[in-house]
Amino acid sequence: MRVDILTLFPGMFAPVLGESILRIAQEKGRVEFHLHDLRAYGEGTRRNVDDRPYGGGPGMVLMCGPVFRAVEAIEREAGGRARRVLTSPQGRLLTHDLALGLAGEGRLLIICGHYEGYDERIPLGLGAEEVSIGDYVLTGGELAAMVIVDAVVRLTPGVLGDEESSQRDCFAQGLLGYPQYTRPAEFAGMKAPEALLSGDHARVAEWRAAETRLRTAQRRPDLLMRRARIAVADLTGRKDGP
Ligand SMILES: C[S@@+](CC[C@H](N)C(=O)[O-])C[C@H]1O[C@@H](n2cnc3c(N)ncnc32)[C@H](O)[C@@H]1O
Repeated sequence: MRVDILTLFPGMFAPVLGESILRIAQEKGRVEFHLHDLRAYGEGTRRNVDDRPYGGGPGMVLMCGPVFRAVEAIEREAGGRARRVLTSPQGRLLTHDLALGLAGEGRLLIICGHYEGYDERIPLGLGAEEVSIGDYVLTGGELAAMVIVDAVVRLTPGVLGDEESSQRDCFAQGLLGYPQYTRPAEFAGMKAPEALLSGDHARVAEWRAAETRLRTAQRRPDLLMRRARIAVADLTGRKDGP
């Protein structure tokens, strides 16, 4: 997979892309990252990329020209159109399913917003999907882009070994995970559950399945409702599932 990231702050990415799974994924040849400085496509001697909003109001807005020029140049260099993502608190929420969908792409182009926002003709004209990482506002799209990239790359085939398989992660089966314990068996008066120490694989599996259901019901009942709706849609053959 090739991931292009268009940003005003390419320097923010090196520490994140250069460590842990993202570094290993590049070493394994599963992903390559290309960072592009939006400023290079700016206008005039000052390389301006923003202007005041029509209608007035505070802050500045990213202009269409620099972003369109950058996207065209990046995709020309990459040899074709990518799935285009624009970071936005007003976008579709990043979920496991969306990350899985993006992981299936050969090419991604992530455009990081900044300032007070961007000209609405950017997502419209570029056909870029606006993606949010949560209901809060960041200063710029760079941290959001890193979150998207991390969530996507770990789901890309061949990135995680069997040991770390993303299949066991929360949300992969539409549920939260079970609680984990490691040595010592007792710490500060708190004991690890007896079932996990029993060495009985069937008992361990049963305990984990029960804890998965309990934890999901307690913390994220919406996930159980979603599974129930999917099951009903499957049984009745209806297409109006979740
Ligand atoms: C200061 S924010 C602009 C917020 C804008 N005034 C609004 O309320 O929608 C600047 C940029 O950071 C990025 N950003 C901020 N919060 C985000 C979030 N929760 N998810 C994804 N991107 C976000 C977007 O690219 C946004 O254009």
